[in-house]
Amino acid sequence: MAQRDGRTVLITGAARGIGAATARRLARDGGRLVLSDVDGVGVEKLAAELGGVAVRADVTNAADIARMVDEPYQRWGRLDVLFNNAGVIRLQPLLDVTEAEWNRVLDVNLKAVFFVLQAVARRMKTQSPMPGSELRGKLIQTASIAGYRGGNHLMTPYSASKAGVISLTRSAAQALAADRITSNCVCPGAVDTAMWEQIDREWGALHGWGPREAWKRRIAGIPLGRPETPDDVAGVIAFLASADSDYMTGQAIKVDGGMVMGD
Ligand SMILES: NC(=O)c1ccc[n+]([C@@H]2O[C@H](COP(=O)([O-])OP(=O)(O)OC[C@H]3O[C@@H](n4cnc5c(N)ncnc54)[C@H](O)[C@@H]3O)[C@@H](O)[C@H]2O)c1
Repeated sequence: MAQRDGRTVLITGAARGIGAATARRLARDGGRLVLSDVDGVGVEKLAAELGGVAVRADVTNAADIARMVDEPYQRWGRLDVLFNNAGVIRLQPLLDVTEAEWNRVLDVNLKAVFFVLQAVARRMKTQSPMPGSELRGKLIQTASIAGYRGGNHLMTPYSASKAGVISLTRSAAQALAADRITSNCVCPGAVDTAMWEQIDREWGALHGWGPREAWKRRIAGIPLGRPETPDDVAGVIAFLASADSDYMTGQAIKVDGGMVMGD
C-alpha cells in the first residue's frame, strides 16, 4: 500500500539520487508528482519518463520556492505530500571551513528546507483533509545519520545542517499537529549516489587515497552487509507518504543498514 489513492507529491532534489528513486517509486504507486530541482534538464527528463510535472527551482531562492509550491495547487488544487530532499555537501577539515562554505551548505540543507516547509505548510493548512485520511498533508525531510553523532569530522557544516533538519522536523510536528499536518524525516547512511562520488573524491584527496577507497572504508562493517541504495530510502519515503504512517509525527527514522543504533 502506498500512493494508490493518487496523493499529490512535491519532491525537491528530484533530478537524481534519492529524489529520483523516490519519484520512480511513488510514480509506480500511483502518486501525482511535481518534480523539482536546480538541474532543470535532469528534472525535465525524469518528469517526461514518469508523466510528472517538472519545475526548475533553486530552493535557496524565495521566488523559486513560491513558484514551485504553487504548481500542484494550480494543477490539482492541493498538495498532499512534500518530500523536502535537496541537499549539498563539502568535505573539509574543521579548521579550514570558511564562512562562505558554511553559508552555502547551511543555506541549501537547513534554511531552504525550513522555508520550503513553511511555504508548503501555509498552503496545506487551508486545504481539506486528504481523501480517506484525517490529515491535511504530510511533510517529509531528508536528514542524515550525520545529524546524530557529529558525522564524519570532515563534514562539520553538513552534520550541523542535518541535526538542524531533525530539530525543525520536530518543531513543525508540534506546531502543525492541530492543523492535522504531520512532519517526519529520514536519516540515510551511506547511499551510492553522486553525492557519495563527491565525498569519495574530496575525502580521498585529503588522505591521498585512490578512487573508491573512502567509500570502501565507509561501507566496511555495515551490520546489514551491503551499502545502501537510493531505493532503500525510497521505500521508507513511500511508507511515510502513505496512509500507513498517518499516526506518526515528529520522528527521525534511520535507514542505514544498522550503522547507528539508538540515538
Ligand atoms: N548519499 C548519501 O549517502 C546521503 C546520506 C544521508 C543523507 N543524504 C541526503 O539525501 C539528500 C539527497 O542526496 P543524494 O545522495 O540523492 O544526492 P545527489 O547529489 O545525488 O542529489 C541531490 C539533488 O539535489 C539537487 N540540489 C542541490 N542543490 C539544490 C538547490 N539549491 N535547489 C534545488 N535542488 C538542488 C541537485 O541538483 C541534485 O539533483 C540530500 O539532502 C543529502 O544530504 C544523502
